Amino acid sequence: KSTLLVAALSFVLLFGSMAFAQKHYVNGIDANYPPFGYIDASGKPAGFDVDSLNWIAEKMGFTVEHKPMEWSTIVQSLVSKKIDLVYSGMSITEERAKQVNFSDPYWKVAQVIVAKKDSGLTVDGAMKGGKALGVQSGTSEADSLQNMVGKDGYSYDLKYYDSAPLAIMDILNGRVPAAAMDIAPANDAIAHGKDIEIAGEFGEPEFFGVAVRKDDAELLETINKGLKLLMADPYWEELKAKHLKD
Ligand code: ARG
Repeated sequence: KSTLLVAALSFVLLFGSMAFAQKHYVNGIDANYPPFGYIDASGKPAGFDVDSLNWIAEKMGFTVEHKPMEWSTIVQSLVSKKIDLVYSGMSITEERAKQVNFSDPYWKVAQVIVAKKDSGLTVDGAMKGGKALGVQSGTSEADSLQNMVGKDGYSYDLKYYDSAPLAIMDILNGRVPAAAMDIAPANDAIAHGKDIEIAGEFGEPEFFGVAVRKDDAELLETINKGLKLLMADPYWEELKAKHLKD
């Protein structure tokens, strides 16, 4: 009789713990991409995307950690399972979609040319005069600039950086006259008092989405459900007010 009781009890415990065991996912982030992802004063990953995913994890019942990674190889890191997703200001592109699956879009972002404040530099001035133009390696901007150069009078010499803030630093130091990036890190730098200005937009606006492995249908569904909940929740407005002052 007691063996039966022990068996029944362990059955309950085993399946009970299985039902409550939460999935754990590792999110690869570019920690030099404020306000979407950065390291805060206490040394912890922070930002719009970090807060968003933490909220989604809690609602959808999984745990998550945010792992700073090199941006230019982050898709490779996802494919090779070093991380489980990239929720970090990643534009949905056809090129990337060959390797990974994207969630529904959650943010629209203009592509801009940044120059030193009061430089009076125009987009054409930065892109048609054969000058150096900064861009972050491994970005959709870098791809589109490589495709545009030599066409329609576009003429520039791309200078590659590991992050948008490093390109902005070189603009301030006078090492490069202008750089191309998403509008978000440019506005963030301006909000933090950096003496730069937005010369104007180029190309087409892009949409950020969350990347997961092609075979990970479960996580994709979880993220899409979570995004839908988040974007309909008052917390979404709070997040925008906190991180995106544009
Ligand atoms: N639009 C760029 C891309 O998707 C932004 C990349 C910049 N870095 C980042 N962590 N989001 O490639």
